[in-house]
Amino acid sequence: MSPLKALGGTSDILPDEADRWQKMEETARRVLKLHGFREIRTPLFEESAVFTSSLGEAAEIVTKQMYLFEDRGGRKVALRPEGTASVVRAFIEHGLDKSGGLTRFYYMGPMFRAERPQAGRRRQFHQLGVEVFGSASPYQDAEVLLLLVRLLKGWDVRGWVLKLNSLGCRQDREAIIEQVRAKLSPHRQKLCEDCQVRFEKNPLRILDCKESRCQELSFGIDVSTAVCGACRDHFEKVSRTLGRLKIPFEKDPHMVRGLDYYTRTAFEVIHGGLGAQNALGGGGRYDDLVELMGGSPVPAVGFAVGLERVLMAQETSSGAAQGAVADRAAAVFVSTAGSDITDGLQWVELLREKGIPAVANLEERPLKRQLEQADKWGFQWVVIRGEMEREKGVFVVKNMASRSQEEIPEKMWLNVLQKRLNRS
Ligand code: HAM
Repeated sequence: MSPLKALGGTSDILPDEADRWQKMEETARRVLKLHGFREIRTPLFEESAVFTSSLGEAAEIVTKQMYLFEDRGGRKVALRPEGTASVVRAFIEHGLDKSGGLTRFYYMGPMFRAERPQAGRRRQFHQLGVEVFGSASPYQDAEVLLLLVRLLKGWDVRGWVLKLNSLGCRQDREAIIEQVRAKLSPHRQKLCEDCQVRFEKNPLRILDCKESRCQELSFGIDVSTAVCGACRDHFEKVSRTLGRLKIPFEKDPHMVRGLDYYTRTAFEVIHGGLGAQNALGGGGRYDDLVELMGGSPVPAVGFAVGLERVLMAQETSSGAAQGAVADRAAAVFVSTAGSDITDGLQWVELLREKGIPAVANLEERPLKRQLEQADKWGFQWVVIRGEMEREKGVFVVKNMASRSQEEIPEKMWLNVLQKRLNRS
């Protein structure tokens, strides 16, 4: 049998990389807490109607990218392609739409989209998302963007560009659609096959098409000109507030996002180091979605960031991958050549009780092999206790980076090692 492999567009995260993921997640949780967000965890699969009723009939995520199946009870089920619809479903299901006030959620976890895999485009990928329910204020939009920027700073991602647009309210949608249809109608036959269907079903999606001919044809269409005075005022307030908060952004009147639930503010953060899939994250306001999904009318705004893409963007910033090495450098390997391996297990327990990451040698093998192994694993410190050390009543503490070592009387080894670690 040929060896089994992970499916295309999915990947294993091996420990070196997992160290970077943990660091990224820890930074995110710290920043989110500072901003008053609390975690929500929703199931990885849902009744497919959760997504078909919310993301938009003509949205590519719904038409082409959902992992759909029938479960044993004949229910139509989908792996979640994004987090917003699930969070709204949970918000309504638990009666939070009736409670009033402001609710701030965040989530982190895998999402699934059956896209053609390429760099930065996975079939299983991870998002960090935030959703704020209960405020229609433009200052809330700005505050959510402030959080996004703080996250990017915390992750040391530089060189991003924030793009902002207004998609108007429900009442403006017809006017916007008419404007797009009017502009594209003379060129309809030149649109790609998908966009010919979009022209009928939801012409706004054409502005999001990746085909160059469709991009050329739709170039210059400005959806923001068709939005009403109140929405324009909202957008102005968001823009002004961002300016005062010194958050750089570009207005992009062409940007529509790939999901249908957005109203008013929509935004995307792109990064030049990501190649063709250049969106680090995106989001916006969705004031009608809670009601559309069967809840009370509760305005909301949020965003999601693609975590694989954050790691890719970090790589283009200096010193990004050093975290894992620095973490490993503080760890200790306890070598027990010629003495009892069980003693080694007890010593690593003493270290762990003091909060020092430690691993003991578990194989009967010469000291040289043990040191080679410790070096390979990236330990900075090795504690050696062989037969010779036992006879002398000492432990040897070796710094693998500098290759220096010292003999320490056995009663003091733990304290001395701790001091050395604090200094390194
Ligand atoms: P989205 O733009 O579909 O928005 O996805 C957000 C981010 O997820 C993208 O900018 C990208 O970084 C990442 N992403 C999407 N698809 C893939 C993929 N196939 N492989 C790797 N990364 C990917 C949403 O999902 C909305 N729910 C965001 C939102 C929250 N809006 C309001 N609240």
